[in-house]
Amino acid sequence: MAKKNIKEKGFFITVEGLEGSGKSSVIKSLTNFIKKKGFSLKVHREPGSTRIGEKIRKILLDNKNKELSVYTELLLYLAARTQLIEEQLKEDLLVNDFVVCDRFFDSTLVYQGYALGLGEIVHKSVQMFSLGVNPDLTIVLDTPVKKGLSRLKSKDRIESRPLLFHNKLRKGYLLLAKKYPERIKIINARNSLAAVCTNVHELVEKTFL
Ligand code: TMP
Repeated sequence: MAKKNIKEKGFFITVEGLEGSGKSSVIKSLTNFIKKKGFSLKVHREPGSTRIGEKIRKILLDNKNKELSVYTELLLYLAARTQLIEEQLKEDLLVNDFVVCDRFFDSTLVYQGYALGLGEIVHKSVQMFSLGVNPDLTIVLDTPVKKGLSRLKSKDRIESRPLLFHNKLRKGYLLLAKKYPERIKIINARNSLAAVCTNVHELVEKTFL
């Protein structure tokens, strides 16, 4: 627990990955692991978690919203994030040992910045609207694109995008991990769920406990 004692606010872990990469199951397992160790923890998802954020999520993922401009999409993701940070996340980091978030700003960098090609505008706005909140550790669950997509029962507006978009997502995450090797760790999620969860627990233990 030595590393824990020197930090005056909670550790912020974000979990990222392609569609169908198994984030939800891994987050559930990680949550149990951290709680069993006796630490307090709060879990969020992006976009969402707040009342307003969940409404924004519905707009973003609704297949009917075909006319949504890519810029509106970017702004809505940022809006959901600022709402979460201001309403809950900053406080949660002050009162908990850990906060785990299912996606955070790396999703915007990869989905809107890299795969949609909005580039620099995304980098600048992400930095501006993260309001000083940065993950201590980002876990990227890496799966083959087609395997992940085949796991989906139904597809929302983002998941319905062409294979080319999803291939770019994978490339985008790998590039981002190369750019920030200290913070972003790739976990091979091709293995069994149990093996993936064990790898994630070991990574968290090694990093923080
Ligand atoms: P989820 O279904 O994994 O919770 O994520 C919602 C969808 O929104 C998923 O397709 C990824 C996408 N997304 C972005 O495109 N940009 C973002 O900034 C975030 C947080 C999610």
